[in-house]
Amino acid sequence: MIRHMRCQAIEQGNQVEFFNQYDQFYATSLTSPFPHRLNGRHEAIIARNAAFLAGKRVLDIASHDGRWTFAALKAGAAYVKGIEPRQELIANAVATFDRYGIDRSRYDFACGDVFELLRSETFDVVFCLGFYYHTIRHAELLDRIERTGAQLVIIDTEVTPAEDEVPLLEPQDARLIFKNPYGIQLLREPIDDQQMACDDALTRNGHTLVGRPSRAAIRFLAEHFGYATSQYDWPKHFVAKPEHGDAMHDYHKGWRETFYLRKS
Ligand SMILES: C[S@@+](CC[C@H](N)C(=O)[O-])C[C@H]1O[C@@H](n2cnc3c(N)ncnc32)[C@H](O)[C@@H]1O
Repeated sequence: MIRHMRCQAIEQGNQVEFFNQYDQFYATSLTSPFPHRLNGRHEAIIARNAAFLAGKRVLDIASHDGRWTFAALKAGAAYVKGIEPRQELIANAVATFDRYGIDRSRYDFACGDVFELLRSETFDVVFCLGFYYHTIRHAELLDRIERTGAQLVIIDTEVTPAEDEVPLLEPQDARLIFKNPYGIQLLREPIDDQQMACDDALTRNGHTLVGRPSRAAIRFLAEHFGYATSQYDWPKHFVAKPEHGDAMHDYHKGWRETFYLRKS
């Protein structure tokens, strides 16, 4: 299946998409390593922000097999630190980086829970990719991110489906409205799956608690911490690249988004 999708991606693209040049990433993870998906996400996460990433210090939370750490370095980031609790994924990342000749002085991977490891470090850009729905500590995480000094935070996350979201009726006092739009859905998820939350203090019977935020909740939290929010235009993306749709059905169907949080 993966090989079939990989051939499709290479055949259909007139220009070589990013991960087709570094196709080791199609083999170092079990977490949606599909060419159309990784290349589509590359446009939203990296290509769109390449000018800003050049020369910057970047933190990659939930760095997984190093896919976005690597892409940021290739876009010209000066240094990237990844935080990832699963050591086997870090080992895969380092092997891939060696294979592609990335200088070891340009990156570090710390193994563990971001809430244990993210302390008083300074970064220009923070990636929170595929993680904001694998935690229940949304506000605390954004607080810690903001304290790094980051001017740009990219949050790529599952969200509640657009049709389920409560419309914003401004101006009203949120304390007096019970159909509050700033919802976060409670979920339990297994900790023995490489794409899910890791074992933490909330774990019981092999599961921990996480929350899937609404779009409004993300904007609300971002504003609280002083960030202006914008979003990647996924509908426009799928008009230009319909071949990406199948491997990105969550983005395509409106239950995953890519947010840019910026400080002025
Ligand atoms: C869905 S994957 C996302 C991978 C990658 N960032 C991406 O967007 O393609 C979620 C990742 O979060 C990591 N993770 C889970 N709990 C974490 C925690 N508390 N701190 C840091 N990373 C965590 C998992 O090990 C996994 O690699």
